[in-house]
Amino acid sequence: MLLLMGLAACKEEAPQPPSASDLQRAESLRPASAELRARYERSCLACHTSIDAKAPLTGDIAQWKPRLGKGMDVLVKHAMEGFNAMPPKGLCADCSEADMRALIVFMSQGKEEQR
Ligand code: HEC
Repeated sequence: MLLLMGLAACKEEAPQPPSASDLQRAESLRPASAELRARYERSCLACHTSIDAKAPLTGDIAQWKPRLGKGMDVLVKHAMEGFNAMPPKGLCADCSEADMRALIVFMSQGKEEQR
């Protein structure tokens, strides 16, 4: 019986495929503001806490780093207009551009920015 698939040791090297703990962290994080939290929970969360959606996981700094390299303005534009499998506004019809920016900061760093 091959039950030991290997509990990945704590390696901090090149970005790796998301692990179970990356997924767990993504699922547990929420924006501090109640308003943002509500928007996040009804839109971004569905894809950005799912490995199958192939979206960068919330709070997974390694996955967000190359995205952040494009510059925040580009990320906000992509979030507003859509980007590949990422739908326009992330399906959050009432999200403003400022909401998107705050959500991206939250998802990419696990922190929240002032709005
Ligand atoms: C239906 C699924 C889905 C939802 C809902 C969703 N996303 Fe995404 N998102 C994706 C996928 C898939 C990608 C990766 C796209 C790619 O790189 O090809 C992505 C990528 C992104 C990126 C990176 C864009 C870039 O230029 O690299 C940002 C920023 C983003 N999402 C923000 C959000 C925000 C904010 C929300 C909620 C308001 C949200 N997403 C909701 C699927 C989703």
